[in-house]
Amino acid sequence: MKLTILFDNVPGRKGMKALWGFACWVEPEEGEPWLFDTGSNGRVLLENARVAGVDLTRTKTLVLSHPHWDHVGGLDSVLEIAPATHLYLTESFSKLWIRDLEKLSDGVTVVGKEPMRLFDGVDSTGMMAEIGEQSALIRSPAGPLLLTGCAHAGIVEIAARATEMAEEPLTLVMGGFHLFRSEEWEIAEAIEGLSALGVRKVCPTHCTGKRAAEMFEEIFGEDCLTGGVGAVVNL
Ligand SMILES: [Fe+2]
Repeated sequence: MKLTILFDNVPGRKGMKALWGFACWVEPEEGEPWLFDTGSNGRVLLENARVAGVDLTRTKTLVLSHPHWDHVGGLDSVLEIAPATHLYLTESFSKLWIRDLEKLSDGVTVVGKEPMRLFDGVDSTGMMAEIGEQSALIRSPAGPLLLTGCAHAGIVEIAARATEMAEEPLTLVMGGFHLFRSEEWEIAEAIEGLSALGVRKVCPTHCTGKRAAEMFEEIFGEDCLTGGVGAVVNL
């Protein structure tokens, strides 16, 4: 299982641009790779992918966490080079937009509030929080992984639901944890919450915020993986 961050406001690999947003390329041990979110800018997403050696024309599956600009900005650029892509998005997307996306893609699956199987090895937590955001629970030989876009529902709440779905503690929680505007006590509470759920590793990035990322590193040590654009996580 290999996860490559293709779009992130947290700087990382040289030659890759850091703009606000998040996108991650997921390559399972078996089966097709797929894309989670698209960042805020298509040109930068495609260029970052080129630098990372990821061929986005191979995209056949794209999961969009929620309809915020920093996660859907590269959507049309992906569909332009990979029009045979199936989209997994949420009811929180505008109905008119979904109708148009059905014409521009290979098809659209709309996720509601309940958890559901998206495709082989990947479940959606279902829409959480008012914004209607889904996160991806990935079954891997290394254990269950949780990939979040912005974690608007709260990273602990989302991880709790994913842990319940997986019926075992999460091996990795990765993505935006949405703590960039949080006080230190709130960050500490989130770290405690994830620890209490038995989360083994974290990769906090995007909207996690600098202070929160530092605090995660203090507690998780080597099990806090470095995020940022271009970061590669192998499990
Ligand atoms: Fe975000």
